[in-house]
Amino acid sequence: MEKDTMESVKVIVVGFGDRGAAYTKYALDNPDRLKVIAVVDPNPFRRELAKEKFALEEDMLFSCVEDCVRRGKFADAVINTTMDELHIKTALPFLNLGYDMLLEKPITNNKKELTLLKKAADEKNCRLMICHVLRYTPFYLKIKELLLSGEIGELVAMETNEMVGVAHASASYIRGKWNNREKCGSSMLLAKCCHDMDLLCWFNSGAAPLKATSYGGRHYFIPANAPEGAGTRCLADCKAEKECPYSCKKLLLDNEYFNEYAFTCLNKKYEEITYEEKEYSLKTDNPQGRCIFKTDADLVDRQAVIVEFENGVVATHSMISGVARPGRNIHVVGTKGELQGFLEDNKFVVRLYNPANCLYTERVEEITNVTAGDGHSGGDSRIVNDFVNMELGLPRSVSSTVIEDSINGHLIVYAADESLDNGGVSVRI
Ligand SMILES: NC(=O)c1ccc[n+]([C@@H]2O[C@H](COP(=O)([O-])OP(=O)(O)OC[C@H]3O[C@@H](n4cnc5c(N)ncnc54)[C@H](O)[C@@H]3O)[C@@H](O)[C@H]2O)c1
Repeated sequence: MEKDTMESVKVIVVGFGDRGAAYTKYALDNPDRLKVIAVVDPNPFRRELAKEKFALEEDMLFSCVEDCVRRGKFADAVINTTMDELHIKTALPFLNLGYDMLLEKPITNNKKELTLLKKAADEKNCRLMICHVLRYTPFYLKIKELLLSGEIGELVAMETNEMVGVAHASASYIRGKWNNREKCGSSMLLAKCCHDMDLLCWFNSGAAPLKATSYGGRHYFIPANAPEGAGTRCLADCKAEKECPYSCKKLLLDNEYFNEYAFTCLNKKYEEITYEEKEYSLKTDNPQGRCIFKTDADLVDRQAVIVEFENGVVATHSMISGVARPGRNIHVVGTKGELQGFLEDNKFVVRLYNPANCLYTERVEEITNVTAGDGHSGGDSRIVNDFVNMELGLPRSVSSTVIEDSINGHLIVYAADESLDNGGVSVRI
């Protein structure tokens, strides 16, 4: 039913970390549409930050999910932005109370938990939307619209690849909180490329993926490749620090890449952290200060995936981590033509078969509506806007990510990782 559109949607944020803060910026910019009325986070610093941002009363700050659900249902929905391995544990109690939820990707770390979560949502008629923010970027949205228009004909094949830059790889997947499958629960494909698998399924919407196969490994950032004289921490005991291209000093002090991730352990507002505090933290106990070759990371640094869909469409995706130029490539081929582009270029080329010369015509589609500095090219705010529309009973965009649409992408990831772990065997989805 359509709600009074003047009434804002009231949400509880579960896990007020980096992503929680990113999505709820929408509430600060659009107080008439979205209101944060409570926050659950075990970290007192994060609770205090939320209290200050949203003018919350003390009794609306919870240090655990159990305390919050004990109050019964007192909001319209939940924004769950906890870390990957906590999604299932923190989502179920709210779904059981009948809360709709905007849930961060990856939905869950494995198929068993995914089934459990979906069942809980179905039983209570909860609407789950997954944060596949790339669907909301103007680049991929334009591609989706072009595919829907039928201009390049029936879908035949899709090729995508994602290059993860050195700074991002280091801060997140080597020295960072997603670096270990056991600790975080996510593989590289799940943590980084569930977006790409989701895009493949969204572009080929309505067709189930049937089989996946995958190869890959971890071969570069390993102890055997550490430079001579390498210690355990760049700024504490390393004789090779000055020459090492991956020194944490170069990445985090001389430059400031992914610093929000790197210094959250200090529990201070980033702008208030001094250079000396950062340096000391990297020298002592900050995981980001470890030698990049000698961490507890176990994620692959390269992986290739092949997928077959029930409508005959084939897709390939590759991920390469630790590259010079980060970004995402896409090449989609249809029966009448093709499109090809690089997300970060904000343009793609459309080629159509031309019977006049038996070759092709070509045009460039420029993406002009990208706001610099807006998270995920504007995807962060657009997905929250869609979620609010869903809650208000208003029409949603073509990017809308109800859980049914998001599940197939995750199923590909689970199957591809099973294939990778078993020498590249073909795995049925
Ligand atoms: N959509 C995207 O493109 C995108 C990008 C980055 C991260 N992510 C995903 O977003 C999620 C959050 O990532 P992040 O970087 O914001 O993490 P984060 O560590 O910055 O935030 C997580 C917060 O959850 C809190 N927390 C821990 N245990 C909790 C519990 N039991 N109950 C409630 N809160 C708890 C932590 O104190 C922290 O403040 C992850 O699943 C991550 O993979 C998605």
